[in-house]
Amino acid sequence: MTGGLAGRSVLVTGGSRGIGRAVAEAVAEAGGSVHVLCRDPSSVETLARTSGGAVWPADLSDEASVWSALDALQDRLGGGPWAVVQSAGAFDVAPIVETSVADFDRMVSINLRGSFLVLRALLPGFLDRGFGRIVHVGSVAGRRGFPGNGAYGASKFGVRGLHEVLVEEVRGTGVAATLLEPAATDTPLWDPLDPDADPHLPGRAQMLRPQDVAEAVSFVLSRPDDVRIPLLQIERG
Ligand SMILES: NC(=O)c1ccc[n+]([C@@H]2O[C@H](COP(=O)([O-])OP(=O)(O)OC[C@H]3O[C@@H](n4cnc5c(N)ncnc54)[C@H](OP(=O)(O)O)[C@@H]3O)[C@@H](O)[C@H]2O)c1
Repeated sequence: MTGGLAGRSVLVTGGSRGIGRAVAEAVAEAGGSVHVLCRDPSSVETLARTSGGAVWPADLSDEASVWSALDALQDRLGGGPWAVVQSAGAFDVAPIVETSVADFDRMVSINLRGSFLVLRALLPGFLDRGFGRIVHVGSVAGRRGFPGNGAYGASKFGVRGLHEVLVEEVRGTGVAATLLEPAATDTPLWDPLDPDADPHLPGRAQMLRPQDVAEAVSFVLSRPDDVRIPLLQIERG
């Protein structure tokens, strides 16, 4: 995608770490301006600024902070970004019988409701312009049940539902939506679980690399305007 995004701005939620960070780096490398939404801007400020973008701190579980960050972004750009990649997310593993209501609400609030908030803020601008790329990072856990994924899986099945409705609602408008479904990917998301020490979890050496997922995003963003990729599943084999 070298140079392919020159003059284009891409908002990457969760661009400070893991998959989102790899996407932010790929966008910058392709000449795009990277805008990042996350809670802690410190690790990604230089990357965003150097690319011509900025970090917009917000907590996806706090509606007011999301509206305020995305209003400010759209003011700065004089409209919305050219594309949004929704990679921010949280992950926990616990059997349903040990999942508290608060933990369930937190997962749904960040992964599903947070994705809806960002979409709700940007979609009107995309539709007005008759152009926009929307990429949601879902998960293999949004299609299959895994033990311990009661809250996470429910939130990612919800993201898939939101995406599938979106695909139908933007058909013929010039706006394109893609759901990526990566399998386990070696990112800091796994750090609290130490997967190499747990035989029930995939080992890090068997996982996808964040760059594998970022390359899939680059592929989607570099398709011609009249090509749609509603779904892309990514596995390590
Ligand atoms: N890693 C995997 O195995 C895997 C597999 C399939 C799908 N996924 C999905 O891929 C996406 C990225 O995961 P990852 O592995 O890259 O995770 P990660 O390394 O833990 O990064 C998560 C990112 O989300 C941001 N974030 C977390 N909570 C947030 C909140 N409340 N408000 C705003 N930003 C928040 C974090 O930034 P701050 O902490 O600064 O807010 C960080 O940038 C997630 O949607 C995840 O579900 C991951």
